[in-house]
Amino acid sequence: MIRIGVLASGTGTNLHAILDACARGEISGRVVVVVSNNPKARALDRARRAGIPAVAMHHRAFPDRDTFDAKLAEILNSYEVDLVCMTGFMRILGPWFVNQFAGRIMNIHPALLPSFGGLGMYGDRVHKAVLDSGSKFSGCTVHFANEAPDGGPIILQAVVPVHDTDTIETLAARIAQEEHKLYPQAVRLFGEGRLQIVGRRVRVLPQGPPRETVGITEISEGEGQLG
Ligand code: GRF
Repeated sequence: MIRIGVLASGTGTNLHAILDACARGEISGRVVVVVSNNPKARALDRARRAGIPAVAMHHRAFPDRDTFDAKLAEILNSYEVDLVCMTGFMRILGPWFVNQFAGRIMNIHPALLPSFGGLGMYGDRVHKAVLDSGSKFSGCTVHFANEAPDGGPIILQAVVPVHDTDTIETLAARIAQEEHKLYPQAVRLFGEGRLQIVGRRVRVLPQGPPRETVGITEISEGEGQLG
């Protein structure tokens, strides 16, 4: 059973999807804490309703990013979190934090990375950029987080078509539906110890007998053969 900490700033629909997947037994794990930098985030209400500790820590209450990150790490460690899931968390985590939880932080992005990602690309801006570009497909990406915004190794992606009649809202809704399937799937694979980071690539290991260990194995490039 993995212990999951969820970071959210907004509505928390991905949190909801992860909670449902845990409840259905699809993820061998449970969400043990939800943290938001936005005290008004609906994600916090969802957590409270599910009986999960919900912590609001407004970033403006901290003198700088390092102090914020240190407090966040302290909270997550106090709940003995194995995996940190960022779900629309509107704070960039610094290198120190990323290092503390190396290979154990996931993020979801509402487009097909490495396109339409990076600093300033969030929410409706992403969908507007996709529509403006004339792309015929978009989708969502679950990836491990590193110091670069939207820059870590890609775990899973889902593709959705962009229709001629699409608006930001209709495209966002189609992508959200896929997010709610994709994120729980990535968390499940992590819990089954089936994710292996090989350089920039994440290998999904085949399902085997139940494993003692959970999480990821990290091997250097060249050691593993990716097909
Ligand atoms: C999602 O669209 C996700 O891709 C992005 O932020 C949004 C979070 O939505 N990173 P929610 O709070 O899970 O509803």
